[in-house]
Amino acid sequence: MAPLDFPIIAEAHDAMHVQHKYWSRKPINVVRAHIEASTAPGDIVLDPFCGSGTTVSQGLILGRKVMASDLNHVATYITRNTITRIDVGELLVVFARIKEAIARKIQDLYKTRCPTCLSIDTTETVCVHWKVHHPFKIWYSCSSCSGKKGKKGSRKRENLHKLPDSEDLVLLDKINAMAIPCWYPSVEIPPGIVFNQARRDVSRFDELFTKRNLIALSLLRNQIDLLPEVTSEERAVKEQFLFTFTSMVHLCSKMTPIRPSRPYSSFWATNSYWLPRHFMESNVWEKFESAVLGPQGLIAARRDANKKIPVTTRIVPSFEALASTPAPCTCIIQHDAARLDELVPPDSIDYIFTDPPYAGSIPYLELSTLWSIWLDKGARVGELFDKEILVDPGRGKDIACYCSMLATFFARAFSVLKPGKYLTFTYHNLDIRIRKAILGAVMQAGFELRSIIYQAPPRASPAHTLRPFNSAVGDYIVNLVKPPRLKAEGKEAIAVAKQDEGVTDVEVEIVNLLGNILLDRGEPATFTQILNYLDVQLFSRPWYFQAHVDPLSILKKHVGTCFVHVAESIGSKKGTKWWLEPAFKEKLLKNRGQQEVIPVSRKIERYLHEHENELVSLPQVDIARAVLKVFNGILLPDAKFLEKAIKQLKSKIK
Ligand SMILES: C[S@@+](CC[C@H](N)C(=O)[O-])C[C@H]1O[C@@H](n2cnc3c(N)ncnc32)[C@H](O)[C@@H]1O
Ligand SMILES: [Zn+2]
Repeated sequence: MAPLDFPIIAEAHDAMHVQHKYWSRKPINVVRAHIEASTAPGDIVLDPFCGSGTTVSQGLILGRKVMASDLNHVATYITRNTITRIDVGELLVVFARIKEAIARKIQDLYKTRCPTCLSIDTTETVCVHWKVHHPFKIWYSCSSCSGKKGKKGSRKRENLHKLPDSEDLVLLDKINAMAIPCWYPSVEIPPGIVFNQARRDVSRFDELFTKRNLIALSLLRNQIDLLPEVTSEERAVKEQFLFTFTSMVHLCSKMTPIRPSRPYSSFWATNSYWLPRHFMESNVWEKFESAVLGPQGLIAARRDANKKIPVTTRIVPSFEALASTPAPCTCIIQHDAARLDELVPPDSIDYIFTDPPYAGSIPYLELSTLWSIWLDKGARVGELFDKEILVDPGRGKDIACYCSMLATFFARAFSVLKPGKYLTFTYHNLDIRIRKAILGAVMQAGFELRSIIYQAPPRASPAHTLRPFNSAVGDYIVNLVKPPRLKAEGKEAIAVAKQDEGVTDVEVEIVNLLGNILLDRGEPATFTQILNYLDVQLFSRPWYFQAHVDPLSILKKHVGTCFVHVAESIGSKKGTKWWLEPAFKEKLLKNRGQQEVIPVSRKIERYLHEHENELVSLPQVDIARAVLKVFNGILLPDAKFLEKAIKQLKSKIK
């Protein structure tokens, strides 16, 4: 067993994983490939930042035991419900009951008259556009006059819009005078990094919704509360409907700006609590129904889970139970990763695959409060915020604090992992100081670096998997090993190496390194491409952790003497690549005793030519996969180039 040392083509999420929103969900096939490479069936895989549970679903599919935890109880709730196998027929029966009990009552809140046929009974409000306190456009569909022939002659209703008429305004006045019938989140929004955005305009969570949607949501939430929960089957069904409720509740808030391209489909636009002046008020019943029956809804997700999650899967309450239960099984638990040692014993884990929080970009606990406020009826707001690994100045957490929290986690992770086993983690923070601090902490914990690979995000075709100039997309995947020998020896070895190397001029060293990286590539490279490879080079040099280095400013500083800019456009995108200044290139070549520069594109063409017979009949994706296996790191090809080269190869069959 060895960790996967090359990128693979990331695929889009399946039905199971699109049902409920969460942030930075990993591509499932990438997660699966890593677990498969680093473990054997029956092994114990740990993910202490499990988020929405991609490690759990994929580990179970591969017949592993998965220990999963997250500080955020909404994350463990999403994970648990994502992998749930359940009788879809039963869900449909219960949905029909909910509909019978409450749909009419909710729909009556959104009654509107079709301006064409003047019917009120055949018309449904899809959503209303508001400017602050005033509705200005109503999107509706009318089954008696605006049906259009869809595919196969089915009458698919068309969404039309109208101005609010006097009847609509009277209805809204009536709603404003109504009392909210059941529980709703009239809870103060506490101070917080993203909470503060909302606090500029409102003070309680209920104010993030229109009065009408608050009434509708409170009725719906209450109806789910009324579902029976005597047997475990009933409890499972109830939980699935609660899960469906939280999967759509944010789409019914006022934090949904109007998109000109999709004016009747709402989305939570930013990772924040931002109340746009122009917002959408979506029909709560419509949203719920589509969260049950729609392509990204409950039924599709459970069908997917029933198909993929092994029927023999057991969910157990503790690590001890996990260890003694046959695979596949999982334990999903709310826990602080900094206290991993209290969750699992030392030297007990076969593999850790995890995706820790990136410094500051996503405050998971605050954001998840929009769901947990409805889930727990306000009972847990603010819980554990102080333990969240995050850059959050308001809570006294600066970058150094974030790094030290992560360092504590890596030290714990080191101790729970079996010697000789691997830890894989991902990050996408390109801030060099943070990257260095994290990798420094990893070394300090005693890990050895195996590889760092750049993993592009999923796109429709393999060509799009490698975006040309963009740097923030995709993830870096770091493979580490806990050496079989003692931690103390590791530290000593590092200290000796530092003395031996006696590096004095870090800048010269880096310039040479950058030069050699470009020479390896043999052709101009984007900064991202350089960085992909530079990391691995630098992190194997112990002096690097003491030095203050910023590769981009070093590149810039030596433009004209060592490096040159090459303006380039890939497809419609314009950008800059870096290449070697001719005299510097000659010097580097001479040092290496190398005659000529061979561009990576030529190497790839040669590779495709030499492997033509075995590759030509494969699907494009598989050819791309084979190429990436060999050409990664600084040899990572451009998307367009790869697409063209593969097309050329394919054209030979015709
Ligand atoms: C990048 S996300 C993981 C996303 C996951 N890979 C997925 O596919 O959904 C990082 C997670 O770390 C969690 N987290 C933050 N601080 C934590 C801590 N001290 N202990 C455990 N989890 C923590 C957050 O709640 C968040 O779910
Ligand atoms: Zn009509």
